[in-house]
Amino acid sequence: MISSGKSHNGAILIVDDNPTNLEVLSDTLTAAGFQVGVALDGETALEQVQYYDAELIVLDVMMPGIDGFETCKRLKANPLTADIPVIFATALSDPTNKVTGLSLGAVDYITKPFQHEEVLARVQLHLKLRNLDKNLKEQNFLLQQEVKQRQIAEDSLKNLNEELEQRVHSRTFELSQALQKLEQTQVQLIHNEKMSSLGRLVAGVAHEINNPVNFISGNLNHAKEYNEELLTLLELCQKNFISLPSEIQHYLQQIDPEYLQEDLPKLLSSMKTGAERISKIVISLRNFSRLDEAQKKIVNIHKGIESTLLILQEQLKGKTDEFNIRVIREYGELPPIECYASQLNQVFMNLLANAIDAMDEQNSLSLPQNKVDHPTIWIRTEILHQDWVTIKIADNGPGIPIDVQSKIFDPFFTTKAVGKGTGLGLSISHQIIVEKHQGQLRCYSEIGKGTEFIINLPYKVRSDQKSQELAKSNV
Ligand SMILES: Nc1ncnc2c1ncn2[C@@H]1O[C@H](COP(=O)(O)OP(=O)(O)OP(=O)(O)O)[C@@H](O)[C@H]1O
Ligand SMILES: [Mg+2]
Repeated sequence: MISSGKSHNGAILIVDDNPTNLEVLSDTLTAAGFQVGVALDGETALEQVQYYDAELIVLDVMMPGIDGFETCKRLKANPLTADIPVIFATALSDPTNKVTGLSLGAVDYITKPFQHEEVLARVQLHLKLRNLDKNLKEQNFLLQQEVKQRQIAEDSLKNLNEELEQRVHSRTFELSQALQKLEQTQVQLIHNEKMSSLGRLVAGVAHEINNPVNFISGNLNHAKEYNEELLTLLELCQKNFISLPSEIQHYLQQIDPEYLQEDLPKLLSSMKTGAERISKIVISLRNFSRLDEAQKKIVNIHKGIESTLLILQEQLKGKTDEFNIRVIREYGELPPIECYASQLNQVFMNLLANAIDAMDEQNSLSLPQNKVDHPTIWIRTEILHQDWVTIKIADNGPGIPIDVQSKIFDPFFTTKAVGKGTGLGLSISHQIIVEKHQGQLRCYSEIGKGTEFIINLPYKVRSDQKSQELAKSNV
């Protein structure tokens, strides 16, 4: 049953089994402008709140069927009605009821017999509180929504930031890669120029020397033959003519034919040895330059090392015998290796030249007690395991300080005086071994003891006749 006042202040459900009470309360509230609904027992009230949008419930405690407490319990247990404030109507003399009611979730109580002003004051107060609570909840909800939105915005900002950082990171990485590549290309260009001019020079010199040396070697055999014939002729003349004309006798005394007979063959043979040595040098120079070789070739590594040593032989000689650099070769049995021979020779050249420089510098700068005792270079080669060979070039020079060791393979790093070192030798060597040959180049050094560079090169096991012959002919 619903009755309405003049103006609508709020909808109130009154639950009481006593019609007089109902009437008194209903009249009071309607007169105050409230919309009033009534129920005579708990069950009806619970049913009614389903469709009657009550903003406050005034609930009697003692009722037939379920009492006020149970009704209140059920109202509070239902999420749809739990928020509706409940005011218990109870007798003045019953404090236990008041406490029980409050503990069940009721907001207040009014005492019977009802005092109009008190009823209105309490109802108005709780409706106001409820509205405030409602507003608060709404605002809280809005606030939560805003917090959520801000959280979403913050998250997406964070994601954007991370994405940006990631992009900066990958761009920086790309740029540093590009820079590294540029540096490598620069090094490669300088290296190519250095190599090709050095190679061209060496090849040109070798070519120029080769022809005259061939004349000398070829003609020496004839010279030997003609000499023997002339000497035989002289012998025959001496034997067959009892007396030679005085001019000839006089000349024979001057030239001492016995000594000539003995010394001329020796002279010719030492000329032959000299010419052979020049031929060997020419071969080594050609071997070193190998300008024509853009392709990999199967070569004998030891021959490459030897031709490099030959080119460096002047530098290996010290100012005095004491400073001569000994070279100790400990060559193992190496198979023919397929490689870029001239580039590999360039690596041997760089490593050997560095060792020589280091020992020379130490000997020319230091006090006598710090000079390198018996300057020596060791060259060791061996098969590392099945398909790797190792070439070690060590010296007993001054060694490299730890902080310098980390930089020696950097392009343009040098500790040598301006104009003496370009700082490219090791970076080029590293490139040749690691990138061109998929090998390894490592440095081990100890101050005062020396330095060792280790080259590890992969090779393909080749047993075919052709490659063996090629390696042999690759002088
Ligand atoms: N055997 C060694 N003993 C001591 N120091 C060495 C040795 N080999 C290399 N170094 C050090 O490594 C540095 C870099 O060597 P790298 O061959 O790259 O350049 P460089 O010899 O200075 O100049 P470049 O070879 O271009 O003429 C040298 O300056 C030197 O300090
Ligand atoms: Mg060098």
